[in-house]
Amino acid sequence: MDKMLVTSGRQLNGSVAVSGAKNAALPILFSTLLAEGEHTFGNVPVLKDIESTAELLQSLGCETIREGHTFKVQVAKLKSFEAHYDLVRKMRASILCLGPILAKYGEAVVSLPGGCAIGTRPIDLHLDAMKTLGAEIELKEGYVLAKAKKLKGATVFFEKTTVGGTENLMMAATLAEGETIIENAAKEPEIVDLANYLNKMGAKISGHGTSVIKITGVEKLTPARHDIMPDRIEAGTLLIAGAITSGEVEVTKCNPQDLEALILKMRDSGFRVDTTKNSMKVFPQRTWEAVDITTAPHPLFPTDLQAQFMALMTVAKGTSVITETVFENRFMHVNELMRLGADITPKTQVAVVRGRPDGLTAAPVMATDLRASASLVLAGLIAKGETLVNRIYHLDRGYENLELKLSNLGAQVKRVN
Ligand code: UD1
Repeated sequence: MDKMLVTSGRQLNGSVAVSGAKNAALPILFSTLLAEGEHTFGNVPVLKDIESTAELLQSLGCETIREGHTFKVQVAKLKSFEAHYDLVRKMRASILCLGPILAKYGEAVVSLPGGCAIGTRPIDLHLDAMKTLGAEIELKEGYVLAKAKKLKGATVFFEKTTVGGTENLMMAATLAEGETIIENAAKEPEIVDLANYLNKMGAKISGHGTSVIKITGVEKLTPARHDIMPDRIEAGTLLIAGAITSGEVEVTKCNPQDLEALILKMRDSGFRVDTTKNSMKVFPQRTWEAVDITTAPHPLFPTDLQAQFMALMTVAKGTSVITETVFENRFMHVNELMRLGADITPKTQVAVVRGRPDGLTAAPVMATDLRASASLVLAGLIAKGETLVNRIYHLDRGYENLELKLSNLGAQVKRVN
């Protein structure tokens, strides 16, 4: 199993371009199930999760073709309406095929995803939303069986903001009869990217990016072309990589307006961060202050950058209080950071990080999930000595060529078996 050896002591400098957003590409690739024909996408990152999506689409009867970052999906009438457990357990986002298959074919069978390292992550809100649109839902032998001759538009209020739930419902509603209103919808930029693609296919969606989304159902959608938006979480991770090594790093091909919460916190901490419309740059800072963060749905501080920001805070001056409100178990990286000498007291959803500006020291650590892995690599960049990050396969799910991007900035990182 691949591991990453990170040697400290290098200041990162230079410019790095971010890849397309995994969390936008996944729902968009599933949305192809709504329309037969050839869909073409640019800027699709080369990642394990995209491969898993392609496998699932193929198992349903679609063809997928990748040429570099261009990705085509050829959708014919599906030969199966079932997303099998073996594919869904690899990637929870597979549940996003439920809305499109159900809306287009009137039935869908999707394996329940089960829990994961960062929490139980139920899908009750997805299922309730489908029920509100008139679907009959049954849970049987680990599968969701959904049926509806024709979905009917309705008002759905999400009692908790859910990115996947909003996406699944938005896709299902495009082919429902009449109007659907989603209240307390998630406002993440990836929802906007998905809505933009659905509209290119002929859907009638408005209000995406706000908490109320309106969808007027149409008879049919037709395939289109689309470039996937840049990955804001990768962009934020690379900016923090520059910051933590006291380097000067410019992150290009990104949308800084999607990362305002992070940029504000970095400035509060003492970093100079300059932005243009599609780039941002952090300037060298020898020491920085501890600041508190609380994760919450967009546009507040993203949970997917919590672990990486915590790494930065482990060497700040002062004490930082990090509160996680989105997932119930997202401090798995804390014990690993403590192996590197970080001084952290984790409670259920709050971690108190007493910064150690004198630095961390290297140790072998274990990656537990995607973003936790990134935080350990960031900490490894400054922990004196050689940090061996085990189970790096998590990183391959969501970061395209991270070691190459960091090496090009001057980091000493290498993959070992
Ligand atoms: C997506 C992102 C993930 C990010 C998360 C929050 C993708 C592929 N993944 O995950 O990287 O960390 O948004 O920004 O885009 N919940 C329920 N019932 C449901 C659905 C969700 O209780 O039916 C809970 C979850 O357990 C969690 C919270 O709602 O505590 C938010 O989850 P959600 O926004 O749905 O996250 P995902 O779509 O799974």
